[in-house]
Amino acid sequence: TKGLRVSDKGFLNTAVIQSEITYIDGEAGILRYRGYPIEQLALKSNHLETAYLLIYGVLPSKEQYHNFRLEVTRHRVVHADAEGFFRSFRYDAHPMAILTSAFAYLGSYYSEANPSLQGQKLYTKGDAESLEMIDRQIYRLIGKATTLAAMAYRVRQGREFVIPPSHLSYTGSFLYMMDHMGEENYTPNPVLEKALDVLFLLHADHELNASCTTVLQTASSLVDPYSAIAAGCASLYGPLHGGANEAVIRMLISIGSPENVPAFIQAVKKREKTLSGFGHRVYKTSDPRSFIVRKTADEVFKVTGRDALLDTAMALHDAAMKDEYFVRRKLAPNVDFCGLIYRAMGFPLDFFPVLFAVPRVVGWLAHWRQMMIQEGGVKIWRPRQVYVGPSKRDYEPIDSRA
Ligand code: SDX
Repeated sequence: TKGLRVSDKGFLNTAVIQSEITYIDGEAGILRYRGYPIEQLALKSNHLETAYLLIYGVLPSKEQYHNFRLEVTRHRVVHADAEGFFRSFRYDAHPMAILTSAFAYLGSYYSEANPSLQGQKLYTKGDAESLEMIDRQIYRLIGKATTLAAMAYRVRQGREFVIPPSHLSYTGSFLYMMDHMGEENYTPNPVLEKALDVLFLLHADHELNASCTTVLQTASSLVDPYSAIAAGCASLYGPLHGGANEAVIRMLISIGSPENVPAFIQAVKKREKTLSGFGHRVYKTSDPRSFIVRKTADEVFKVTGRDALLDTAMALHDAAMKDEYFVRRKLAPNVDFCGLIYRAMGFPLDFFPVLFAVPRVVGWLAHWRQMMIQEGGVKIWRPRQVYVGPSKRDYEPIDSRA
């Protein structure tokens, strides 16, 4: 391993690919999808249109958007056999564990998923057939992400699964599948539907975060995209990453009230507690998404009523932002305070990471497609190490060992 050196812990400053998809400037607090500022997209676009932009690199024409939406809607349906799979989980199974398994389950019956096993040729430039297969799997995974998430939610409540009417938006259909209890002409609350769609858009991609790296690392062996997405879900599940939106609320509940914030801050500084929802590997001033989350929260609370936890969250934010310990470490609120909105909308706490995974399937697939069609084909990701273990030594029989 001569000449190799370990990149800073946790890939601190390691670039493994070139990408045209998402741009982040951590010092300036900038996030752009294919060059479009996140602030403009959050205000003017919607999650499904932004999904098209992330995957294909351009904002769709009316016809392209119509066809994309039709394909995603068509592929939203999950095979009836899946019901038994979902009902096999224990009543208290964590929905993120169910979703992770569900994506691998999908891969178990989409046989054309694994070109290298089915002998199907991999993408080569200009090969329309393999590009069409890549796109079909993208429609399927984006469409089914909402259905699988809704099934994970309803199975725990012992409710039957429902298919939404096709006129509803991507996010509206998701809310329908989650909440429909048989009412005539059910339609989601438009303010809550818009708020969730903005949050989906904000969570759609974030360049090479831990879960996206996991998806690409996994897919680089040419396994099918369903298995790679399942691996991404497993990585996102962790409290340092997508699981933080659930951890933030558990933290705020444990703090209890604004009066307890100073003691909590002390405990964090003594490293006895973690301040979830703060800090970021890349953003060292602010996470631009957090400002849009704040604005979206104000809209939602007008409908749902204000959550008392907000007082604790604001007290925590104000205390941390002027405390030298956090300022010196450049710790600012990240996107994961959106848990306050999910809570106000009535989602169960352990469902929050699922609300992160559903939209992030888009970004994972945008990066997967970029890798699958790159010039020169797919190279397996196989990093090296610097070996620091024992040098050569000979085996000793157990009787002669101390
Ligand atoms: C997401 O990568 C992405 O893009 C992720 C994401 C995406 O969209 O995909 O943006 C989504 O995952 C946002 C992050 C959600 N996680 C949390 O909110 C969990 C709490 N945050 C921390 O665990 C932490 O900030 C990380 C994991 C987010 C970042 O960790 P880093 O980059 O490895 O930073 P670090 O641990 O090296 O921290 C530097 C210093 C350390 O102190 P010292 O050892 O130098 O004294 O800051 C401290 C850390 O102890 N620190 C914190 C802290 N985060 C970092 N101290 C208290 N509370 C925190 N939250």
